[in-house]
Amino acid sequence: MTRLTVFLSVLTGFVLILVLNTYKTLPVSNEKFDLVKTEKAYKEHAEKVLEVTGPKEVEAVAEVADVEYAPVVDLNTPQLVAGHKIFGQCIACHGKGGEGKASQKAPHIGGQYDWYIEKQLTDMKAGARINAAMMPILKGLSPQDMKDAAAYVSQLPWNKEAYLAALKAKK
Ligand code: HEC
Repeated sequence: MTRLTVFLSVLTGFVLILVLNTYKTLPVSNEKFDLVKTEKAYKEHAEKVLEVTGPKEVEAVAEVADVEYAPVVDLNTPQLVAGHKIFGQCIACHGKGGEGKASQKAPHIGGQYDWYIEKQLTDMKAGARINAAMMPILKGLSPQDMKDAAAYVSQLPWNKEAYLAALKAKK
């Protein structure tokens, strides 16, 4: 009986070693785990998602980033001069008078309180208020830039007719 047990144990051990050895030399098929292919597919998918859901106005904004335009407001302080310059990046969506544009879903902001404008810009940049459309611009604005832009926007005529009249008077 003891001899039989020893014999069986040795046999089992032998078979085990044989099986483990073959397992080690089995060819591994990488096709199922092709990381490069998977990564590429993932990237393509992510790009497609961005194309569908991402902000569409970014290109147009880059074009008008440094446009020269006549100020609607009397630039009688250095802050308004600075704010007018920064607001050049906003008019593609919000309009020269801050009157807003339905096509961009950009609201009327001209004449809004400066502290409110500044707070919205600060919150958007910090991500406390989500605004994907404005993010590319906000990245380049310092807290002082936001203050200056807010000061300029707050001086814009709130009323559309008043804005048009002010534009006319400037000509
Ligand atoms: C690419 C278009 C685009 C540009 C450029 C842009 N905005 Fe906006 N802005 C929007 C949209 C869209 C909203 C509405 C966001 C929402 O629905 O919350 C908005 C909202 C705002 C608001 C909030 C208004 C409110 O009543 O709460 C402020 C303030 C504002 N923008 C200021 C600016 C300023 C200042 C600039 C330039 C530095 C600027 N925006 C540039 C598209 C734009």
